[in-house]
Amino acid sequence: MIYSRILGTGSHLPARTMTNADLEAIVDTTATWIFERTGIEKRHLVSEGETCCDLAEVAARRALDAAGLQPSDIDLIVVATTTPDQFFPSTACLLQQRLGIRGCPAFDLQAVCTGFVYAVSVADKFIRTGAATRALVVGAEALSRILNWEDRGTCVLFGDGAGAVVLEAADEAGIISTHLHADGSYKDLLQVPGGLGNGHPEARFMEMKGNEVFRVAVTTLGRIVDETLAAAGLSKSDIDWLIPHQANIRIIQATARKLDLPMERVVVTVAEHGNTSAASIPLAFDQAVRDGRIQRGELLLMEAFGGGFTWGSVLVRY
Ligand code: COA
Repeated sequence: MIYSRILGTGSHLPARTMTNADLEAIVDTTATWIFERTGIEKRHLVSEGETCCDLAEVAARRALDAAGLQPSDIDLIVVATTTPDQFFPSTACLLQQRLGIRGCPAFDLQAVCTGFVYAVSVADKFIRTGAATRALVVGAEALSRILNWEDRGTCVLFGDGAGAVVLEAADEAGIISTHLHADGSYKDLLQVPGGLGNGHPEARFMEMKGNEVFRVAVTTLGRIVDETLAAAGLSKSDIDWLIPHQANIRIIQATARKLDLPMERVVVTVAEHGNTSAASIPLAFDQAVRDGRIQRGELLLMEAFGGGFTWGSVLVRY
């Protein structure tokens, strides 16, 4: 039996930051409102000319360094993003070119905030079937480019960044299981309506019914926790670390309560960079690996929820 294991992690945040106080000058909000409702204190934003692939490249190179690998060792690239540099080529192909490698499959995956979880699941399946041996999995976003900076209900919540992991084939898990779900009947609650051929090419900014998203997110993430533990025959107390999608501290606290997990065992980065969509889990993961909190051999539960709706989890023995 072939499994995949996580060899190295990396991440990158753009240099430009915007605090809650800075937002007070842009929309009708207060720093206190934002912090109390979301836990966010600041976010990092791309500068003019800086792109999703720029962020992805730095995160990818850091993950490769941590794994002790060269780009040429990689035989699969998956980039989860909602904000690619171009319609095509995919950000994964742009990244492949920058890393100076040729020939291996490279593609983007779009599952909004659940993108990284989807991408890890897909890469894990490539490795388990023998179709790849060393995969670079990236979550990267320049989300500020699809924010309406006049809509206080959305622009205060999101930020830009990238995170990456390198997966390698192994005799033991590694990745124990992944669980993916979607329900398109919720499409109107969180969306960028614009696209090709739907009559709204100009509607290129995010729209969200925040409190409805909040309610569905909390109940859905509770269910995915149960599903993941049951599939592995594990109990709540087996989990060493929860690495949640960083959307809102209140959603994260609700999932931690569901797991009876003290907040000290939850990796929380939402204060520092807000919701970075597909980048948020690998950003949090990398931070907790590099500061020494997460140790080899520990059991990690990653979970995410996002537009679509999509949701999912990854259970991994690090
Ligand atoms: N500053 C000040 N007031 C704001 C505001 C802001 N940035 N954004 C909204 N408000 C106002 C609303 O207009 C509303 O005013 P009203 O009562 O006069 O109508 C009031 O605050 C309460 O709005 P509501 O949406 O009910 O607040 P909430 O407690 O649900 O918090 C969110 C709003 C967006 C923080 C919260 O719903 C949330 O986090 N939802 C999930 C969003 C998310 O995570 N999306 C991504 C999923 S991956």
